[in-house]
Amino acid sequence: MKIMVLNGPNLNMLGTREPGIYGVATLQQIESNLKNTISSSRYELEFYQSNHEGNIIDKIQNALDNEVKFIIINPAAYTHTSVAIRDALLATKIPFIEVHLSNVHAREPFRHHSYLSDVAIGVICGLGAYGYTAAMTYAVKYLQQQEG
Ligand code: DQA
Repeated sequence: MKIMVLNGPNLNMLGTREPGIYGVATLQQIESNLKNTISSSRYELEFYQSNHEGNIIDKIQNALDNEVKFIIINPAAYTHTSVAIRDALLATKIPFIEVHLSNVHAREPFRHHSYLSDVAIGVICGLGAYGYTAAMTYAVKYLQQQEG
């Protein structure tokens, strides 16, 4: 059983990309933190980043056949534009948390709207890389509770 972490465009550049906004942790460091967080549970981590909307949608669709029980997603700029990612998440019905490194509500108005938030279990923003760890801790608890 897997927990999948999806990252959208430009997040491959974390570490050097606008560090004042997104922090200095690289995506590899975030992935290794999450491996530690999940290691004491019986779930496996699947970690993926793409700069292409269709690839992210394919990953979400394939999650169903791939034993993915929970999704943590930072859709990056697609948060504010993608009806298609919303529809893919709704189609699979896999519970998910939306994560943003920055506090999108304290930034430009076009970042205040998300196509995902109203259908997510929860939204974490503004906590930097820790937001992924918090989401993962919750996901493990949520799944353990579901299994009783
Ligand atoms: C982001 C916020 C988005 O508005 C932006 O386009 C990103 C990253 C964040 O993690 O803070 O690329 O999702």
